[in-house]
Amino acid sequence: MRPTREQAMAILKKYVKSESQQKHAMAVEAAMCYFARLNHEDEQLWGVVGLLHDVDYELYPEEHCVKAAEILKEEGVDPEIIHAVQSHGYGICCNIEPTNMMEKTLFAVDELTGLITAAALMRPSRSVMDMEVKSVKKKYKDKHFAAGVDREVIRQGAERMGITLDELISNTMLGMREQASRLGLEMHDDQ
Ligand SMILES: [Fe+2]
Ligand SMILES: [Fe+2]
Repeated sequence: MRPTREQAMAILKKYVKSESQQKHAMAVEAAMCYFARLNHEDEQLWGVVGLLHDVDYELYPEEHCVKAAEILKEEGVDPEIIHAVQSHGYGICCNIEPTNMMEKTLFAVDELTGLITAAALMRPSRSVMDMEVKSVKKKYKDKHFAAGVDREVIRQGAERMGITLDELISNTMLGMREQASRLGLEMHDDQ
């Protein structure tokens, strides 16, 4: 089946209990939906792929992207979605290469949403709403900031998509803005 957003959320919550992991899934979802619209593609499908991409990570961190296939198959999810989910670990935890634009986008935005979230939380507003591309870029270049975020994956991701790093950052951020309150990244002016 091709899950609705509600069905995908239910699957996510069944396997991922950590709130920060759920928020990560929704941040990737937000970016995927934005890029789907830009590419005139199926927003619901891209969003669901974003929501489900780390479904196995909390329970099986050592078998990330491998267990996901089993879980999603058991949940009756379409092979197209399973392939896309697995491909985000290309070169890291699996050898399924991102081929179509949906898969390339997932690969590119996964780590970047983490960088953008970390950068947003450093701001006085603790928000993505008043953030600019150049401030994200500064954090991208600062290797000590959010050191767990793999810059090479982001760089390679933009290259695979055939867009510039600035375009990737800008559109990912715009996607996350659309869901800022869901992500806890709306404006906070209680500084
Ligand atoms: Fe992952
Ligand atoms: Fe992820």
